Amino acid sequence: MTCWNGVADPNGPMIYKGLYHMFYQHNPKGATWSNNSIVWGHSVSKDLVNWFQLQHALTPTKSYDINGCWSGSSTLLSNNKPTILYTGIDINQHQTQNLAIPKNVSDPFLREWIKLPNNPLMVPTIGNKINATSFRDPTTSWIGHHDGLWRVLVGSQQKGNKGITLLFKSKDFVNWVQAKNPFYSAQKIGMMECPDFFPVLINGSIGLDTSNYGHVNIKHVLKVSLIDVSHDYYLIGTYDIIKDVFIPNKGFEQNNYELSLVLRYDYGKFYASKTFYDDVKKRRVLWGWINESSTQEDDVQKGWSGIQGIPRTLWLDKSGNQLIQWPIVEIEKLRTNHVNLHSKVLKGGTLLEISGVTAAQADVEISFEVNELEKAHELDLSWKMDPQHLCNENGAKMNGVGLGPFGLLVLASKDMQEYTRIFFKVFRANKKHVVLMCSDQSRSSLNHKNDLTTYGAFVDVDLVHEELSIRSLIDHSVVESFGGQGKTCITARVYPTLAINDKAHLQAFNNGTVDVKIKKLSAWSMKKANIN
Ligand code: FRU
Repeated sequence: MTCWNGVADPNGPMIYKGLYHMFYQHNPKGATWSNNSIVWGHSVSKDLVNWFQLQHALTPTKSYDINGCWSGSSTLLSNNKPTILYTGIDINQHQTQNLAIPKNVSDPFLREWIKLPNNPLMVPTIGNKINATSFRDPTTSWIGHHDGLWRVLVGSQQKGNKGITLLFKSKDFVNWVQAKNPFYSAQKIGMMECPDFFPVLINGSIGLDTSNYGHVNIKHVLKVSLIDVSHDYYLIGTYDIIKDVFIPNKGFEQNNYELSLVLRYDYGKFYASKTFYDDVKKRRVLWGWINESSTQEDDVQKGWSGIQGIPRTLWLDKSGNQLIQWPIVEIEKLRTNHVNLHSKVLKGGTLLEISGVTAAQADVEISFEVNELEKAHELDLSWKMDPQHLCNENGAKMNGVGLGPFGLLVLASKDMQEYTRIFFKVFRANKKHVVLMCSDQSRSSLNHKNDLTTYGAFVDVDLVHEELSIRSLIDHSVVESFGGQGKTCITARVYPTLAINDKAHLQAFNNGTVDVKIKKLSAWSMKKANIN
């Protein structure tokens, strides 16, 4: 997991001449975000695991970006020439879109970037009804093969708290014209930051180039980051490039939707995320910013804040109704000291210590077999089916009734004064079974100044035919958990005071009354990645 002093949104990820490039919102002047000194930090990697930090790619130097170089994306033009479109905060604090190109395309490190003399290329005006302080975060562009026009989306907001993403088109990547209609809009959800728009294959996990469209076996994903709630939401739908409209699938329709019904990449901490197409490994890779749960004073004291999560490969689930995410395979290079066990009954009310791995830095996969489904607790449907709320309830009242909670206890202290629980609880509702996944941070630290919020979401898993599994990547202050083979992801930040380094323990637990069986458990210590 990579971290640097004062880090936020991932920007412009790409692979170029065999090197992965990662840019990111970065405050070189301090440990926290600052509204006028944001630069584009830049690191490169051969494997998405070990990183080498380079000089800043973009810093505020021009009238159109003097108050900050904010988020944006990279696009490889048809001749494989890299470009960056980013938001500049100008002398009047207005948001503008600008283009930068590498000084030397034969340098695989792309160390130096030149801002185009034509900048700014897209500006807010009264005529186009764009609020000058809500006009930012251009996406990776895609080209229409029928008309040769490049297209890019920019996040915005209009009167009445209406969130919109605007579409701009260009023949030459320099002169951009705004399309008449917004590409996507939804009432009352506020500013749509960091939009991301890309194709996914129906029935397959290989990734597609952003300019791939128009085939029957393709769907499109539109992701927006909603600042009002600090979460990344996505919609699956169909993109019609002739009309330039995105039509969300049934269940994802725009306008007046309830946010709790829209899918999220991650039900914990994960924001301002961005994908890119890796044409070497033929996959789409997702990056997300994971902010701190500690106080600002603590961040300043430790001297840094914000991390980029472990990159995830992402594809469309067989059902077509949701995305699947899984940590990039390269992360497995860090695995060492494998321990495993098979077919072990975990009786109701018991704990099982998993020893032999460094619990403060580990990769754990556990799968369960649940029988006696009829003993699952009946879910009262008169409750608002808010999974996060259910996880909270579950922590307190429902322990010890029915099927679960069962799962992993991570970063636990010897005396159990501190622990974080990642678990399932199976319910009966309307003659069906519903699986709830929770990441409970309420006991994660004796320092109660940290945000100890519990997170939760449902997992769309068929308990008869599919495995009920959790994979957790644990790295000192971060726990990234993938439920149901990547169907539901929850990331948490935790700051144990006792359960640190070799004092941390890892356990499997079953706090329900019904026994469950661990079908398979595999755990590894994780080596440290090289980050300069
Ligand atoms: C999202 C965001 C973007 C903006 C950037 C500034 O976290 O607010 O909308 O470009 O951060 O750092």
